[in-house]
Amino acid sequence: MTTSPPFDIVLFGGTGDLVMRKLLPALYQAHKAGLLHPLGRILALGRKDADRAAYLAQMEAQARPHVQADFDAAVWGTFAERILYCKLDAEQPADFDALAQALAGNGGRITVCYLATAPALFTGICAQLARVGLNHPGVRVVLEKPLGRDLASSNAINAEVGRHFAEDQLYRIDHYLGKESVQNLMAIRFGNTLFEPLWRREWVDNVQITIAEDLGVEGRGEFYDKTGALRDMVQSHLLQLLCMVAMEPPATLEANAIRDEKLKVLNALKPFSESDVATNSVRGQYRAGAIGGQPVVGYLDEARIAPGSRTETFTAIKAEIANWRWAGVPFFLRTGKRMPERLAEVVISFRKVPLALFPGPSMERASNRLVIQLQPDESIQLYFLAKEAGDGMRLQPTYLNLDFDATSQHRRADAYERLLLDVIRGNLGLFMRRDELEAAWHWVEPILAGWNNSTLPPKPYTAGTWGPAASSALLSRDGVAWHEEL
Ligand code: BG6
Repeated sequence: MTTSPPFDIVLFGGTGDLVMRKLLPALYQAHKAGLLHPLGRILALGRKDADRAAYLAQMEAQARPHVQADFDAAVWGTFAERILYCKLDAEQPADFDALAQALAGNGGRITVCYLATAPALFTGICAQLARVGLNHPGVRVVLEKPLGRDLASSNAINAEVGRHFAEDQLYRIDHYLGKESVQNLMAIRFGNTLFEPLWRREWVDNVQITIAEDLGVEGRGEFYDKTGALRDMVQSHLLQLLCMVAMEPPATLEANAIRDEKLKVLNALKPFSESDVATNSVRGQYRAGAIGGQPVVGYLDEARIAPGSRTETFTAIKAEIANWRWAGVPFFLRTGKRMPERLAEVVISFRKVPLALFPGPSMERASNRLVIQLQPDESIQLYFLAKEAGDGMRLQPTYLNLDFDATSQHRRADAYERLLLDVIRGNLGLFMRRDELEAAWHWVEPILAGWNNSTLPPKPYTAGTWGPAASSALLSRDGVAWHEEL
């Protein structure tokens, strides 16, 4: 990759968790790799009247520990030279005038305003940016998820933000799209002849998409309790993964060509009726248990969780895509906190052979499966049957294993690093267009409503397990089991 054009990145919420844990470490890695223009500046904004030295000290304490691989003190020092600090309270218009002044004289260079704040502040910030002239064509705004709580609030934000910025200035981020492994899904499908002919209802029995985390709510109790797994993970990351798996080949790799295909998938998702919510979705909440042998508290005992909260920390959903390629194929989506391990994977299970000729493993285990692991390691396994050595014709399951982490010669950039560089370079392909977001909310809303109207609380599951038993039951009705149960 080549060095970026000159830029200013303005970090709203500059002292917050996202900036410290993800954005500064990602920018450091880009700096270290020589991908940031030498004149590129990073302007962190915070409500405190701190000075640059105090901010650098905070960065040292809170961002540096998140630079995991190959930390280099000298490079960290030159990275710090790019950092500026400015006091800004998003509710104080005068502070925006000061911001405009701080950026004046940057020659109209690309200015990235990264809104790493509560979404409730998005519209006010955009209006103020416009008022002080910071909506000229060189300005790009990055909006963090979740954008709203439902379709209406998401539309309201988009409409308001859209009054001040053109759609091609808006970068709605879903960091899963920046993961190398997620882009590899497209490469696997459309760069090879092998899979695509089989990638359809005639050959695929079911698809499973799992994003499991062993973490709990990690000090984000207040945010999480108002959000829950469906809004936090399904509406964004899981549906984007589903689009990558299910979309038709785009005509080109141009941003809108890809977004058009994803949108078609979202629009083809079969809407949930009230009764579908009860039969095709499961919500759970973790109770005390153990992770990696260490005891952990239950969700209701985490800090800043409302007493008796019914927020889901787990969900499993049976989705269907009503189009010619996928009609009738269940797509099982699952995500949860406090599961046994951090794991993101897509499992494509192919149909069984028409006749069981050989003695050996049960038919379930016998189907061919393509397991695309996205996290923690990036790999692909193709499960099939082969003859067990020895007398007779007994078959046993085996697999081909392709380990990208072990074989790749190249540095694998973190999702935020790639996406920040894309914003500076003006590549919109890995960001969500407004209509995609609307379609995603549209599909998720009846599930949210069904849960809200239900008298039943989320089903409990013990921390460190794969979720409530109802999650396995959701699949067993279709004669299917989660991949780890096979
Ligand atoms: C974020 C969610 O979008 O994604 C978090 O808000 C979640 O709750 C995180 O922990 C997971 O991302 P990753 O990249 O660690 O799988």
